[in-house]
Amino acid sequence: MGKVKLTISNLALEVDEGTSVLAAALQNDIYIPHLCYHPALEGRGACRLCLVEIGGRLVTACRVPVEPSMVVRTNTPEIDRAVRPVVELLIANHHITCRGCPSSGKCQLQKLMAQLRIDRRRVRRLRVPEEEFPLDTSPPCFDYDPNKCVLCGICIQTCEDLHGTSSLYFLNRGTDTRVTFYGDESRCASCMECVKRCPVGVLLPRQIQSTD
Ligand code: SF4
Ligand code: SF4
Ligand code: FES
Repeated sequence: MGKVKLTISNLALEVDEGTSVLAAALQNDIYIPHLCYHPALEGRGACRLCLVEIGGRLVTACRVPVEPSMVVRTNTPEIDRAVRPVVELLIANHHITCRGCPSSGKCQLQKLMAQLRIDRRRVRRLRVPEEEFPLDTSPPCFDYDPNKCVLCGICIQTCEDLHGTSSLYFLNRGTDTRVTFYGDESRCASCMECVKRCPVGVLLPRQIQSTD
């Protein structure tokens, strides 16, 4: 496989041809916000958080392959203006406390908040009156907490990628959107890959489920 030389965040890099700009950055410890990206899956551009500037245009880094001599900017006021409100809304609609969450410490949303230095007081003002949704215990090998799901779609894409067709899908629209099983839970092979790849730990394997 050939190599491509490019610059990301003023750093000269050499990466494999065909690598996405996001993967190239992450492989070289350059953080770009992301939620719907997983290295084993094709970038879908669903969360719109991985915006970078290339040639004066904002593009989603998970969808753009590296090119020779490409210059990628990852930290500009325009990027911040586009990404910050999306992250703040996501956090406002997410369970506000990380206390007792089994994913705390390895959660991509926590990492995003830290990297973007999100103002928690401002986010609290955006929060709509909380409606608590019950834990979904219908899946065969894990439970699903809709209150913390960021709707990234990685679980659905993972199941489809590994098994040809996904046992999971998005139900409803807008704030009522949930991940759920296609009627017959017996289709699930209990491979647990969706659980492992969920960036916010919303899919809780039964044996290590939090009791909080
Ligand atoms: S455990 Fe495996 S088969 Fe079951 S829903 Fe998740 S990815 Fe699909
Ligand atoms: S359950 Fe996890 S992987 Fe699936 S959409 Fe929600 S946050 Fe993403
Ligand atoms: S990681 Fe690129 S759009 Fe979500």
